[in-house]
Amino acid sequence: MAGIYITALLLFGAMLTFQLEVRAEASNSQLKHDSKILQDSIVARINSNSTAGWTAEMSPRFSDYTVGQFKHLLGVKPTPKGVLESTPVVTHPRDLKLPDQFDARTAWPQCGTIGRILDQGHCGSCWAFGAVESLSDRFCIQFGMNVSLSVNDVLACCGFSCGDGCYGGSPFAAWEYFTYSGVVTEECDPYFDTTGCSHPGCGEYPTPKCSKKCVKENLLWSKSKHFSINAYRISSDPQSIMAEVYKNGPVEVSFIVHEDFAHYRSGVYKHTIGGTIGGHSVKLIGWGTSDDGEDYWLIANEWNRSWGEDGYFRIRRGTNECGIEAEVLAGTPSSRNLNLVPEYNEADVSLDASI
Ligand SMILES: *[C@@H]1O[C@H](CO)[C@@H](O)[C@H](O)[C@H]1NC(C)=O
Ligand SMILES: *[C@@H]1O[C@H](CO)[C@@H](O)[C@H](O)[C@H]1NC(C)=O
Ligand SMILES: *[C@@H]1O[C@H](CO)[C@@H](O)[C@H](O)[C@H]1NC(C)=O
Repeated sequence: MAGIYITALLLFGAMLTFQLEVRAEASNSQLKHDSKILQDSIVARINSNSTAGWTAEMSPRFSDYTVGQFKHLLGVKPTPKGVLESTPVVTHPRDLKLPDQFDARTAWPQCGTIGRILDQGHCGSCWAFGAVESLSDRFCIQFGMNVSLSVNDVLACCGFSCGDGCYGGSPFAAWEYFTYSGVVTEECDPYFDTTGCSHPGCGEYPTPKCSKKCVKENLLWSKSKHFSINAYRISSDPQSIMAEVYKNGPVEVSFIVHEDFAHYRSGVYKHTIGGTIGGHSVKLIGWGTSDDGEDYWLIANEWNRSWGEDGYFRIRRGTNECGIEAEVLAGTPSSRNLNLVPEYNEADVSLDASI
């Protein structure tokens, strides 16, 4: 198990290194950087390819984006090696009976955050979105409460430990931040960029400043903090990832984005054409098998609802497509600070798996 896991990690690490090299190469070519990310030729090639398994379009979300602007959204920085090695890895037993199809939205219909599609605007904050969204869902699943947690808190206040805010960060560092610093609610600290990048002349915004004060005067920063007990990785075995989502809720995943992915419209994505652009983090909420017999993961993106399948996408499952199974992260929400009725106590919510 550990062998497979380490191989997958090395693979992902190698892909990220490769990506950085590609990045360096690309920076030599300003021409490419300034050209449009969406290309009619890519749409035509995908849509005329009957074995691609997915359809492409000139996505309205990125109609005015250059390659450079699109790359800026892909803000995953690799987790430092030492940190990776000391991270607990959860492996679920292989004999657990799992359904062929699973969708967290219908499994926990009382949890509205699971089906929210957010918008990272033009900030490279995906590393924080995937983590904060998964943790919000897990609070509802674990404690039966509706709460939207604040991406802005992590983005602005985690600082150097997480990376470089809108210029990219480490998904794992975000999960660690929840354990030692907690994260306030969205109501206390809403996302700074609510306009998205559809308006003309929109440029890059700097990372918001950490204010440690709720925008609403009747809310207290310290009282709004929600903590998690731990931060862990899930074994790259697809069965283990499925068991984790089935038992504990959505997880954060990261993967390599190629040029063709910006054009995704529907179907089960697999990389078909175009070069590497960067690394992206998102929230995995389920799985299934398409009518064509292709196994997929169901994933919520943070590019608003005009992109993909109403803001979601499906990607091939079981083959570590674009590294999607290599860095699966989660944490267990804590009752600390919640003022819950005494029936909940942390002893009851220990990880139901071997670490
Ligand atoms: C069509 O898609 C398949 C599967 O992704 C790929 O192997 C093949 O190279 C594609 N063909 C063209 C012409 O792009
Ligand atoms: C999604 O896009 C719509 C239309 O442009 C916009 O009104 C809305 O605020 C966006 N959603 C988010 C979460 O930013
Ligand atoms: C969360 O809010 C939604 C919409 O207001 C409601 O239908 C649902 O029952 C709430 N869930 C919980 C767990 O309180």
